[in-house]
Amino acid sequence: MKKGFFTCPSTIDESRLYGFSWLEHVLAIPSPLVCVTSYKANGLPNATMQSWCTFGGSDGFHVLFAAVDRRTHMYASVMEYRQFVVNFPSRDVLPRCMATIENNGAGTDEITASGLTVVPASKVNAPMIEECFLNLECELEWARELTAGGNFEVFCAKVVGIHMDQAHYNDDQLGRYGETGYLYNIHRPIDPDSGRETETQVGSIQSLGSHKTL
Ligand SMILES: Cc1cc2nc3c(=O)[nH]c(=O)nc-3n(C[C@H](O)[C@H](O)[C@H](O)COP(=O)(O)O)c2cc1C
Repeated sequence: MKKGFFTCPSTIDESRLYGFSWLEHVLAIPSPLVCVTSYKANGLPNATMQSWCTFGGSDGFHVLFAAVDRRTHMYASVMEYRQFVVNFPSRDVLPRCMATIENNGAGTDEITASGLTVVPASKVNAPMIEECFLNLECELEWARELTAGGNFEVFCAKVVGIHMDQAHYNDDQLGRYGETGYLYNIHRPIDPDSGRETETQVGSIQSLGSHKTL
């Protein structure tokens, strides 16, 4: 049975959602887990976990960040240099990328402090994370407010080069999917009927087969 929801269900206490919409948690749509790296104004590497993002387009290939918090170093750094790298961690690397949230001081090289290795990008002025299996070198094309006067911006950037681990683009080896491939954020799902919450989860993708055979 399908149910319609148009306002926050009474089972959900909005004051406990840390500013997120109740829809974020009732829908809990998985989104890619990436770590964005750039240089701070003092030249030190910055690293920021991001997951409200998507990729595509035909006039070049673009990355869209749906909600970049203006209060982060990432926002200041990307607005200053307009260049950054999107790094994709595998399961074994994710804890170190997540550690960049704690190692967040203005005077900190957030990549090295989190046990990861800084490698300069080839085409853009930004650091990359060596241990991530995929790095996208990006140039910001535009940034806009998500909502008038709000804290979040939408970023659109063009991918100008990539570095991808051979074992990940070869499906006979680690491949792109499954437990060794792309990771997804499953943000604290809430059942709108009972209000029951599940802790935020990390997901991976399982192929169900070709479009023709489903
Ligand atoms: C799994 C995960 C996903 C996140 N996604 C986003 C996001 O999409 N947008 C955002 O602004 N912050 C996001 N954050 C929060 C930032 O990573 C966090 O505020 C970080 O400390 C900012 O770092 P910075 O100040 O060095 O840029 C996310 C955090 C986590 C743990």
